[in-house]
Amino acid sequence: MKMILDCDPGHDDAIAMMLAFASPELEVLGVTVSYGNVGLENTLRNALKIRELCGSDVPVFAGVPQPLVSTRISAEFVHGRSGLDGPVLPEPIRGAESTRAIDFIIDSILAHPREITLCPIGPMTNLAMAMRLEPKIVPLIKQIVLMGGSTGLGNWSPAAEFNILCDPHAAKILFESGVPITMFGLNVTHQALALPQHIAAIRGNGNKTSVVAAELLEFFKLSYQKRYGYAGPALHDPCVIAYLLKPDLFKLEKLNVVVDDSSGASFGRTVVDVYHVLDKPANANVALEVDADGFFALIAERLATLP
Ligand code: BDR
Ligand code: CA
Repeated sequence: MKMILDCDPGHDDAIAMMLAFASPELEVLGVTVSYGNVGLENTLRNALKIRELCGSDVPVFAGVPQPLVSTRISAEFVHGRSGLDGPVLPEPIRGAESTRAIDFIIDSILAHPREITLCPIGPMTNLAMAMRLEPKIVPLIKQIVLMGGSTGLGNWSPAAEFNILCDPHAAKILFESGVPITMFGLNVTHQALALPQHIAAIRGNGNKTSVVAAELLEFFKLSYQKRYGYAGPALHDPCVIAYLLKPDLFKLEKLNVVVDDSSGASFGRTVVDVYHVLDKPANANVALEVDADGFFALIAERLATLP
């Protein structure tokens, strides 16, 4: 399956990258990087570090540094100042491509019409800008499988999840695009908590990448304990990749989703019609449940195949 991963690494983004690179059934055409958890300079460097750690030669492209309309927010509180605090990784040798992420996305979709799955696991600005810059690509996108939003509460405001709150206007463009969307929101990713036994299994693989993954998870765990009082960190972004590999791990339902871009307390909220109270067509396949043990077994098994 041809895919483009649009990310803002980020601890859980890093694990999502590893899982994608470790999966031969996924043809990762490129990794496009967004500002998000931290500023673009750091998210880009982190993406390059993870690519190198995994021994991958997938091209990495720098995206836009800011949201479309709103003011940039960031999540150093959760991911540390570098965006990937915890294990010390060597500075990357190979840099990003000179092509901009938005141009890469447009050119790839035009070259492979109806074949590419777009996977945003950070703010959705790169994809929204590509759609606006070249509207011809919109009907040519096979599907979007994203991490963002929630059927319930938010994690960055009481109402909004971080990726959507970073750029609600961009997220709205995606949800209103008519492209088939599968959504992994906090309601399901908070079921995917990396508990001590999951982290131990990954570390137990013994290969370099798995040990780094376990160390990333140990740092991420402290942030989640401190900020949310959770027993383990939520592996939001890898849910997207796990779904592409093993959709049966998840229970989903087609629902209507509206992104609230009006200013106020619900700015950035995904309003999901869980009870079908509106007579509006479904525009997203929304994940509701995950088999968490199956999910972590898949991650451990795949990461073992990396350097
Ligand atoms: C999302 O926000 C980021 O901090 C994570 O990487 C994930 O994509 C969860 O709200
Ligand atoms: Ca992310």
